[in-house]
Amino acid sequence: MSITTSIQLTQSSRYRLHNNQLIPVTGYGTWQVPAEDASKLVYEALEIGYRHIDSAEIYGNQRECAQAIHKFCQDTKTPREDIWFTTKIWNDDHGYDETREAVKKIADDVKEYVGYVDLVLVHSPLTNKKKRLGTWKALQEFTKPNDHILIRSLGVSNYGIRHLDELFEWDGLTVRPVINQLELHPWSPQVKLREYCVRKDIHLEAYSPLTQGKKLNDPELKSLAQQSGDSAAAILLKWSYLQGFIVLVKSSDVKRMKENFDVLPPGKPDDDCTVERFMGKVDLDPGVLAKLNKPNSHDVIAWGGNDPTEYDG
Ligand SMILES: NC(=O)c1ccc[n+]([C@@H]2O[C@H](COP(=O)([O-])OP(=O)(O)OC[C@H]3O[C@@H](n4cnc5c(N)ncnc54)[C@H](OP(=O)(O)O)[C@@H]3O)[C@@H](O)[C@H]2O)c1
Repeated sequence: MSITTSIQLTQSSRYRLHNNQLIPVTGYGTWQVPAEDASKLVYEALEIGYRHIDSAEIYGNQRECAQAIHKFCQDTKTPREDIWFTTKIWNDDHGYDETREAVKKIADDVKEYVGYVDLVLVHSPLTNKKKRLGTWKALQEFTKPNDHILIRSLGVSNYGIRHLDELFEWDGLTVRPVINQLELHPWSPQVKLREYCVRKDIHLEAYSPLTQGKKLNDPELKSLAQQSGDSAAAILLKWSYLQGFIVLVKSSDVKRMKENFDVLPPGKPDDDCTVERFMGKVDLDPGVLAKLNKPNSHDVIAWGGNDPTEYDG
């Protein structure tokens, strides 16, 4: 039995965010990609077809990611606008002044290669209200023309409802977040938080969609994969697309990078999904989907197993 019969999402699909930017639905993740490997691996990801690169200041590879994007665009005459580049503000850089400095560092690292940044995320809420809002105040200023670097979209990562409420209730808010990047997979489905984000027109990015490899040998998952004639990794990625997520997946192995990308079929370059999120975009066998869904599960793997969305500081 094939698990994909009428896939609607393609490798070229992009979701339209509330600020009208179009974000590719598949991103190449670069956590734990060392700086010395990042240029080569990101270049290879772009050659495979990935058009979305997810980096962060704390990963220590944002410069190398940007260099790879620049080289790829030059070598292949690909317009810079075709590639989405994300980086993130680390916890130590929370606060108005600290975030301004962090953005200047981003400018130093990447501006000569990519010109602007598509998306900057606040990496986590793990400081305090004053610091978080100070960070947002600073980031908002870089979404307008400035002497350092233009940021086209702002988002958050690992924010729970409390942290998002705090931002939406703040009277200084002028630029609303377009994204919440969260650990999302069948064992960490975050159903309530997702529903909140949808109500606020915030798209969800799934990080660790393969559970960092930790559940790939789960007996039930392996049996579902066997039943579907697909790999365990492919089923998890299809589950993620089916939820309406933008899926960020990392591999340092070119073969696996390609396998992960090929979970969606090739598409026309201008596929623009004005999504009805949470509606099926990948036709996964309903029986397999039903068994994969664990709406009450709360098994967090990243951040030492402490769910940052529940942080109460
Ligand atoms: N905002 C945050 O707090 C946060 C936290 C974590 C991650 N992220 C972002 O999300 C991205 C993805 O998440 P992640 O790196 O944590 O985990 P992931 O993508 O779920 O899993 C990566 C692991 O799975 C292995 N793998 C990849 N493809 C595979 C396949 N087809 N078959 C078997 N194993 C496979 C990789 O090994 P090989 O490399 O050897 O292939 C690696 O060990 C990150 O790189 C980062 O950009 C963000």
